[in-house]
Parts: sequence; C-alpha cells; structure tokens
Amino acid sequence: MAFALTPEREIELADIFGRYPNKMAATIPALHLCQDQNGWVSPEVVAFVAERCEVSVAHVQGVVTFYTLFNQKPVGQHQVWVCRTLSCALRGADDVLHHCEKRLGIHVGETTKDGKITLRTAECLAACGQAPMMQVDKDYHENLTLEQVDVILDRLKRS
Ligand code: FES
Repeated sequence: MAFALTPEREIELADIFGRYPNKMAATIPALHLCQDQNGWVSPEVVAFVAERCEVSVAHVQGVVTFYTLFNQKPVGQHQVWVCRTLSCALRGADDVLHHCEKRLGIHVGETTKDGKITLRTAECLAACGQAPMMQVDKDYHENLTLEQVDVILDRLKRS
C-alpha cells in the first residue's frame, strides 16, 4: 500500500521544502518526517520521498543506507542507543551495553518480544564529556551508572 503523510505532516513537509534551495536538498528532513510517522523507512516510504523530493529511488535508498538513524526495518516503540566510541568505551560503555542486553533479554540490533524496546549501538553522539552515555529516543542520558540504566529501562518497560 502506498505511503501517505497525515495532513498535519503534509504541512510540515511544505514548510521543510520552503527552507531548502531545491527539493533534493530536503531529502534527509523529509525522511525523518516520514520515519516519525511510520516508525521505519519502508520501501513505500522510500518511493514516497523519491517522488516528493524529485529524485530517484536509488538516491533515497543511498541516503537511508548511509545514515544509521534511519530504520531499515520495523523497530520497537522506544530505541536505546548505547554510544560505544572512545570516551564512552573508556568509561564503561561495554558494561552499559551488556547490562542492557541482560536486562532486556536481547542482543544489539534486536527488539524485545513485546515490541517496546530496540537496542542499538551508536558512534560518538557528541556528549563525550559526560561519558558513558546513551540516547533513548530523542533524549540523552549521561554519566550513566548501571543503577541509572535500570531506572531508565524499567521506565521504558512500563510506558
Ligand atoms: S564517545 Fe560517546 S558521546 Fe562521544
């Protein structure tokens, strides 16, 4: 079935197009807008964005496969991204990640059986001074301890 934006998001898309010199330049924000609605970038979303941004499907697919923030398959209601780059690695990112895997009963890249949480790793999220850190949906959680991770995951499970 073809993808379509809600009327509210159509207005947002028109606003996005107005901020760029041409529609092709708006490919990334258009993809984010569609992903916010659909949860992931399905083939139907790729076709929609290609048409609306007046670019090829291959161009959009190239963008989607380059940036890890675009979901290429369905994901959980919440996404947990554990930073694993140097500063976080030196301050316990591996422990945070393994703790998340154990608490959630999944491995990196997987989604909990109830569809609530997808666990992923990220490269530096520019919060190195507050390492170790993880991003939960759009929020940063910094200077993490395993106890704080428990609180965050418990809250997500209840949501
Ligand atoms: S290394 Fe983790 S935020 Fe930069």
